[in-house]
Amino acid sequence: MEWFISVSDKWIRNILWLLFKYTIFKQHCIKNFSISDVSSDNWYRWHNGARCFLGNISGESIFIKSDKYLWRLKNECDKGKLFEKACPLSSVKVMFVSTDFNYSYIVFEYINSVTLSEIFSSDSSFTNWDFLAHKIVEIIEKLYSINLIHRDFTPSNILVSLDGNGRFTEVKVIDFAYAVTLGDEYIDRYIGHTSLMNLGQGFKLEAFVWDDAYSALNILDTIESKSGKSIKDYKVKLNSFIGRLKWVYKE
Ligand SMILES: Nc1ncnc2c1ncn2[C@@H]1O[C@H](COP(=O)(O)OP(=O)(O)OP(=O)(O)O)[C@@H](O)[C@H]1O
Ligand SMILES: [Mg+2]
Repeated sequence: MEWFISVSDKWIRNILWLLFKYTIFKQHCIKNFSISDVSSDNWYRWHNGARCFLGNISGESIFIKSDKYLWRLKNECDKGKLFEKACPLSSVKVMFVSTDFNYSYIVFEYINSVTLSEIFSSDSSFTNWDFLAHKIVEIIEKLYSINLIHRDFTPSNILVSLDGNGRFTEVKVIDFAYAVTLGDEYIDRYIGHTSLMNLGQGFKLEAFVWDDAYSALNILDTIESKSGKSIKDYKVKLNSFIGRLKWVYKE
């Protein structure tokens, strides 16, 4: 019952927002940043004050993520840019952040892709799983080289692009909202206990401890079972990273 109430509560909030706030939001986008053709993206999945939209700036497709928490957008922007510098091919370009109190949102380039979790649950056959494993190891190497800990390194935060023949062509990491670099302890005070409990769930080292290489190793296990081929060398490489850079929540 509790589950039903919280799910329907989310739906009611989203529908009310679409009915009463959406038009003003679109006006804000066009007036302040010349963002046209704004449309909602999977609105039924919106949660926790965060909403996603598609749009267009000077003919370029963009992806908008709005959030009531400006600190989360700013952190996502800062950490996303840090990663972009180190690993441009596996990152999504952050364009800007709107810091307007009622209309805070972040704007990214739009990536025509699906998430790795969708790939994992799909029945389609894919041919170059090796490429995926290679890219994931490369991403971890880059994250470690700049002491950046993503903390939510899960299949739903990895975007994969495909060509028409079931071949993976690009792999990108998204959602740096909770990422940290050494010395960022203050961020955890904003997040709260429950969200920290859930962050990286199913892929993290242990409760309140994050190690992206460990999360990536879990992902490689699924790649191995989906492909039916050994990717031992990639797993050995990732194993050598585990324990080198981890984040422990200090209350
Ligand atoms: N730049 C982008 N281009 C295209 N699609 C994107 C882009 N960024 C994110 N997405 C899509 O939006 C979804 C949500 O993005 P993100 O993970 O950053 O937000 P979130 O707050 O974690 O939302 P959720 O909890 O619903 O996953 C992604 O799973 C992906 O499908
Ligand atoms: Mg996400």
